Amino acid sequence: MPNLASVVGEIAQRMTARDERGKVASYIPELAKVPIDQFGIAVFTADGETIVAGDAEVPFSIQSISKVFTLTLALGKVGDQLWTRVGREPSGNPFNSIVQLEYEKGKPRNPFINAGAIAVTDVLLAGHEPREVLGEILRFCRFVAEDDSVAIDEHVARSEKQTGFLNTALANYMKAFKVLENPVDHALGVYFHHCSITMSCRQLAMAGRYLAFSGRLPGKDVSVISSERARRINALMLTCGHYDGSGDFAFRVGLPGKSGVGGGILAVAPGEASIAVWSPGLDPHGNSVLGSLALEHLAKAMRWSVFGD
Ligand code: DON
Repeated sequence: MPNLASVVGEIAQRMTARDERGKVASYIPELAKVPIDQFGIAVFTADGETIVAGDAEVPFSIQSISKVFTLTLALGKVGDQLWTRVGREPSGNPFNSIVQLEYEKGKPRNPFINAGAIAVTDVLLAGHEPREVLGEILRFCRFVAEDDSVAIDEHVARSEKQTGFLNTALANYMKAFKVLENPVDHALGVYFHHCSITMSCRQLAMAGRYLAFSGRLPGKDVSVISSERARRINALMLTCGHYDGSGDFAFRVGLPGKSGVGGGILAVAPGEASIAVWSPGLDPHGNSVLGSLALEHLAKAMRWSVFGD
């Protein structure tokens, strides 16, 4: 097996040298300000080591990667009841598409498209004020990252709110079909804020440990979720984590992964590693160009595909 530290170092060098980086998200104006020439990678391994390279300590907006953490919390709160509110099939549509919602009577296809994540946030809101739910989400992220400096970027949250016309449409649509139970502005307020959580690659790789290691934090006597639940969240990440680019990501990388329009990707090599990559340039589906490429190289070099070596 090749040496992981040299593979990671080499990948960072190759990515830094590339010119083709896609485009930084511009529909959230605050994200458009992030310089494109950045690349970071962090790999947390079974023996408790974190190998980092490039801009691995720079905090970035985790955006849709936060949907993995809200899904984990909602499953913890209502269990399989969640699937009465949101499906678990790939959508084959862009993350902010509204077309399927009308055909399917306001029930989102999966928890990772925007509509699905807003519905998951609504489940977390039952019986709570928005700021309590936001506190719960942030505390969970800090707990799994083992880092209290994980924070919310209020500028990004405000920017999202000001330009969130499509998300507002999705939420209103679901409210009309009674899929949302709480006020639309509560669900959207919490959603915009959890998308605005910032983490570095190092923090994100730490936060993904429970998914890579059967619901547990390796080396610690801590169970975050059951192994069955971790397996199922990983299945959803594999099939839906990259929206209408999920099939291509599975083909190229072969690992469960969740992307965000901040340019981050959390990927999971079950039993082997929790991996975070970040580079702000995106492909047309909203997935990091260099992040996907880096994971493709890493999974190939380490033979970490879930489909076999
Ligand atoms: O609601 C939005 O559009 C963003 N807060 C999150 C979208 C996102 O990250 C899609 N992922 N690639």
